[in-house]
Amino acid sequence: AIDDTVAIVMLTEVDYRTGRRRNMKAVTEAAHDAGAIIIWDLAHSAGAFPVRLSECGADFAVGCGYKFLNGGPGAPAFLYVAPRHSDVVSPAIAGWMGHAEPFAFEPSYRPGKGIKKMQAGTPPILSMTALNEALTLYEDVDLATLERESQCLGDMFISAVMQHCPDLELASPRTAAERGSQVSFRHPEGYAIMQALIDRNVIGDFRAPDILRFGITPLYTNAEDIQRAATVLSEIIRDRLWDRDAYRVRAAVT
Ligand SMILES: Cc1ncc(COP(=O)(O)O)c(C=O)c1O
Repeated sequence: AIDDTVAIVMLTEVDYRTGRRRNMKAVTEAAHDAGAIIIWDLAHSAGAFPVRLSECGADFAVGCGYKFLNGGPGAPAFLYVAPRHSDVVSPAIAGWMGHAEPFAFEPSYRPGKGIKKMQAGTPPILSMTALNEALTLYEDVDLATLERESQCLGDMFISAVMQHCPDLELASPRTAAERGSQVSFRHPEGYAIMQALIDRNVIGDFRAPDILRFGITPLYTNAEDIQRAATVLSEIIRDRLWDRDAYRVRAAVT
């Protein structure tokens, strides 16, 4: 789909439904070959595995702080601008913290240099404090190791679920290198099944129309948790424990 009619390619590196991971380097090159720029959404990448924006020649990226980065709901987001663009790019939302001299209180807007101008208003300090604390986890974490462990746990979960729950269809790639840090399955009663899981303290989420999504991170999920989650899931399916009206009531957040 990337041809010379395209100016901007905007893609999520890891598909939020299936967990399929795109080849950042190949897609970035395809965009550049077509004369387009690329904006990567790293919502499902940051904090899960090494992200190689500069190595891949990416132009821009955005992401949120509340998934694998653990900043809590509504945590501050982030953006990336390749240094080669940072002097020419303008912020979509200009604010006083991105001003060249915020405390000079000049009557007109003068952008700060480089990436500094991308700041908007006063930062949400309380939310940043929580995110900052969450990020301290990463001081001792090697992201490549984290990625490998996550792939092992993902493979383990897929094997166990496929063995015991033939009714579930794997929606994620079977090959670990093609997945992000999540595993998804399809089932027509996916919503009710997920509610039954949550009721038993196995917390995943549901994405319409039929996807059960499990975020897997070795930072605080181990092999025992994975086996337990697979066992609980297989009991729910085998004994139709999901088949209750209460589990079919749709909440605003799924
Ligand atoms: C692909 C993707 N991009 C971005 C976001 C974050 O959006 P927001 O910062 O509006 O919460 C999410 C959150 O679920 C997401 O899945």
